[in-house]
Amino acid sequence: MQKKSLSGLSVLDLLYDSPPYASYFRRLPVLETRDLILRPLNKADADDLFAWQSDAEVARYVLWQPHQSVAESREYVRGMRSLYRRGLPSSWGIVKRSSGRVVGSVGVMWISAENRSAEVGYSLARPYWNRGYMTQALSAVLRSLFEDLDLNRVEGQCDIRNPASGRVMEKCGMRLEGVLRGRIFNKGEFIDTALYAAVRNR
Ligand SMILES: CC(C)(COP(=O)(O)OP(=O)(O)OC[C@H]1O[C@@H](n2cnc3c(N)ncnc32)[C@H](O)[C@@H]1OP(=O)(O)O)[C@@H](O)C(=O)NCCC(=O)NCCS
Repeated sequence: MQKKSLSGLSVLDLLYDSPPYASYFRRLPVLETRDLILRPLNKADADDLFAWQSDAEVARYVLWQPHQSVAESREYVRGMRSLYRRGLPSSWGIVKRSSGRVVGSVGVMWISAENRSAEVGYSLARPYWNRGYMTQALSAVLRSLFEDLDLNRVEGQCDIRNPASGRVMEKCGMRLEGVLRGRIFNKGEFIDTALYAAVRNR
């Protein structure tokens, strides 16, 4: 439940410190790479999303549970569109150019105007793993965050048992800064995470 503050901002808005960036998230830029188009999600994407959001292997190291029905993927899209409308940190759908299908997502988990920093997260359908797709997608997002939002620092975290994710961040120019022990409680256990970051001019 969100409460409205006197300024008209919701608690969620304040938590994410996003108002300076609201116009960016209200109208996420379309980002293009060799094989992919990153664009806002819409209702018609729910079936494509369910195809991989229902895969327990994809969900193994992320903070969401595999979807049990397409209704959950529809709800995910509704939630995402609500974030777009409110100008809050949100995700792009990753569309494979050759098929037009939404094969993954990549997005901003939180953003801080005070520190000009943000955290990214991403997932891709299993049939497309290890083809360099997430490296393309994350590179495009990092470029946009640094160039369009003038951020100073972008972080990403992965379960230390998920080296493919760490490798993606490394290939995108992010550096391993350390392991955060028991940083996240996920799927019934405390997880050690590897923290990566890209920092402007460093
Ligand atoms: C992690 C994930 C996004 C990677 O996407 P992807 O498109 O396959 O990534 P890329 O192809 O760009 O790069 C993967 C790299 O990891 C490497 N890799 C794959 N499995 C690996 C493993 N078990 N150990 C070490 N490296 C591994 C690949 O060899 C490749 O590196 P290389 O180009 O140097 O050979 C994808 O596997 C995924 O969506 N997983 C499920 C969701 C998830 O874990 N999201 C991240 C949460 S933090």
